[in-house]
Amino acid sequence: MFASFKSIGAYVPEKKLTNLDLEQMVDTSDEWIKKRTGIETRHIADKNETTSDMAYEAAKIAIKRAGINKDEIDAIILATISPDYFCMPSTACLVADKLDIKGAMTFDISAACSGFVYSLAMAKSFIESNFKKNVLVVGAEKLSSITNYKDRSTCVIFGDGAGAAVISRTEDKNEAILDVSAASDGKYYDLLLTPGGGSKYPTSLKTLEKEMHYIKMAGNETFKIAVKTLTEDVVEILQKNNLSSKDVDKFIPHQANYRIIEYVRSKLKFPKEKTVLTVAKYGNTSSASIPMAINDAYENKNLKYGDLMLLDTFGGGLTWGSALVKFAMK
Ligand code: UT7
Repeated sequence: MFASFKSIGAYVPEKKLTNLDLEQMVDTSDEWIKKRTGIETRHIADKNETTSDMAYEAAKIAIKRAGINKDEIDAIILATISPDYFCMPSTACLVADKLDIKGAMTFDISAACSGFVYSLAMAKSFIESNFKKNVLVVGAEKLSSITNYKDRSTCVIFGDGAGAAVISRTEDKNEAILDVSAASDGKYYDLLLTPGGGSKYPTSLKTLEKEMHYIKMAGNETFKIAVKTLTEDVVEILQKNNLSSKDVDKFIPHQANYRIIEYVRSKLKFPKEKTVLTVAKYGNTSSASIPMAINDAYENKNLKYGDLMLLDTFGGGLTWGSALVKFAMK
């Protein structure tokens, strides 16, 4: 029995935030942002639009494209760092309610940008161990709700959006998720964090005044570890599966920064046309970035049934992971 990547769906909020808009908000320039990140626009959710609303929209598409009934979904794993509610209920529970799915196992996971790949690892295990049949895996973020639009080192990067996939049981080896790796090193916990609002610094007037509820990032240090880890991770998973970069049809890395992607791509010798890039239009959408990129490739007819995708991710924690996945949507 195998787990297969049956479908993909995504939701991109309507409102665009351009580099020129950001020039009006902080001391930055279109030229700097493009040169250092490759980002041109990012999409920002409406004030009343929540992470679960965006996840719901992406999930509806993924379920429809999987050709199954919503009631066949027996688990929902939702990766996010911007849940609708802090602590509880989980955003996955809210998505289940919006989809009118009753009785499924639903929970959120916190693995920052690596959340979607971490969720894939779990969905694969749930299916291969015969615990679940159809797992809805979602990466959804309203990062604009935890971004400080006075901090130029973070606000130019992040965007909102959601992506979802249905992972289902199959007997066909050609449709299998071949392998997923997921790892972390908590030593680097403070390179990328939201310091306030947790049990260490519970929300108080002081934490709010110090703006501790926003994302803080040591960008340059994170950048250096990201390029090294993202590269090593790919080498490892390819070697473990006796494959080379030539066997991969689509390289789909986390969309954090064009310079990071370009470094990893050229080091691993993936041709440009095999590399999926969405960072210019969506920015960094954390856990949503990889499923949004898969959806983009599919909708642009750049990904088809049977293609071998190599996913590669990295994020706060620090966490990272990669996956070799056959695209099994017919
Ligand atoms: O998604 C999960 C993991 N996250 C990542 O992988 C993100 C990794 N980091 C990055 O993408 C990059 O480090 C950033 C885009 C965040 C920053 O780019 P950088 O090339 O590493 O810049 P830097 O932090 O080394 O700063 C260089 C200069 C500094 O000025 P001084 O000290 O040289 O005068 C910054 O203050 O650029 C300045 N700077 C800016 N200038 C204009 C930082 N942000 C901006 C900005 N506009 N938005």
